[in-house]
Amino acid sequence: MLKKIMPIYGTRPEAIKVAPIVRALEDSNLFDCVVTVTGQHREMLDQVNSLFDISPQYDLDIIEPRQTLNGVLTKTIKGLDEILDREKPDAVVVQGDTTTSTAGARAAFYRGIPVVHAEAGLRSHDLYSPFPEEANRKLTSQLAALHLAPTRVSRNNLVRENLNSADIVITGNTVIDALLTVVEKQVPFEDPSLEELVGSGKRIVLVTTHRRENQGEPMRQIARALARLAQAKPEVQFVLPLHRNPAVRDVLLPIIEGAANITLTEPLSYGEFTRMLDASTVVLTDSGGVQEEAPSLGKPVLVMRENTERPEAVSAGTVRLIGTDEQRIVDSVSQLLNDPLAYADMANAINPYGDGLAAERTVAAIAKLLGVGERTPEFGSLDFDVMAAELATKRPVGA
Ligand code: UD1
Ligand code: UDP
Repeated sequence: MLKKIMPIYGTRPEAIKVAPIVRALEDSNLFDCVVTVTGQHREMLDQVNSLFDISPQYDLDIIEPRQTLNGVLTKTIKGLDEILDREKPDAVVVQGDTTTSTAGARAAFYRGIPVVHAEAGLRSHDLYSPFPEEANRKLTSQLAALHLAPTRVSRNNLVRENLNSADIVITGNTVIDALLTVVEKQVPFEDPSLEELVGSGKRIVLVTTHRRENQGEPMRQIARALARLAQAKPEVQFVLPLHRNPAVRDVLLPIIEGAANITLTEPLSYGEFTRMLDASTVVLTDSGGVQEEAPSLGKPVLVMRENTERPEAVSAGTVRLIGTDEQRIVDSVSQLLNDPLAYADMANAINPYGDGLAAERTVAAIAKLLGVGERTPEFGSLDFDVMAAELATKRPVGA
């Protein structure tokens, strides 16, 4: 009899990273896959499901404007409990560190269903940053039966927390599977002006910001920095696909709307976004997923955060943490735009996060967990993995 696996997800980044797992589960002859979404995000989630041709069997549709963390948590647990009772899956798969992910893990755990945690073991070592994601991923680690660590660094974090190493498998991150599949399709832009921009050869700085701890004053500084950069660099185009969160738009728009060389768009479809990423000169972001994707495409990434749970590309030199101070953002972007040597130092194509086979390894690890498969080789150890691990051990845990 087929084992029933229920992937549970709710936001854009989870959808992108779970899509290759859904495909691989469906392609395997061992599993029946019951896709369940919470609808923590709506348009941004649907965009991804439609790109990857995934029609969820269950959709809790919980989203509310300006929703609260506890609202998302309680609605998710209540909705999932009924579905888990009806479907009785052999395992659930949750991804990363969103509230959907941790609520999904808890709902399954309370029902005695094994939890598979994809993208396990990322740690910033600061419980309040990113908030609440660092807490979410630590909580999920306590409940999971199988931890799928993307890299050796993340595996080592879990081992240091005394989790059983036999329950950890290094798979690589499925975001690279998704990226490699989509970027080669060269998806056309819906908006002809974006098509024209990419064709023009003009230098592009791609910007995204949404982190909860950046909302308010830090995001105001980000917006002011962008306005100053746009004025100082009229020959460069700044492209900012706006997150749907009104708390983000309320702060950004009054400061940057109307500048001729700042292109503001609705969230781009994943195909469009990765194409824009590929066409960009510099990436300025506070996103987790973008930190993983841009290094694969050889794009320097300036991360508007004080810390990161993704140290591998920082060690390799392609990602730099710059925080959210207005002047520091202006200086850091200007340096990359003005100094070809500084640019060349950062523009290295590296793949610390995956090789495109993470979903395959994920499915093999689930098969082993459920007694229908053997252990298979892990994602390889890379030099910058080791360097980053050394860096991480020097940082006090819990500091
Ligand atoms: C969530 C995740 C965060 C992840 C981010 C990815 C948590 C706690 N946070 O944060 O880890 O990095 O998603 O983008 O799980 N909205 C819409 N339509 C959408 C999506 C959002 O209108 O498709 C608006 C709604 O008003 C919603 C608000 O955005 O209330 C915030 O969404 P929410 O999922 O609570 O927080 P994010 O900041 O998106
Ligand atoms: N992304 C997208 N369209 C956009 C902006 C981002 O498809 O307009 C993708 C991006 O390639 C990455 C993911 O969304 O894979 C990151 O999502 P987000 O920054 O919202 O969340 P995080 O990764 O920070 O949790």
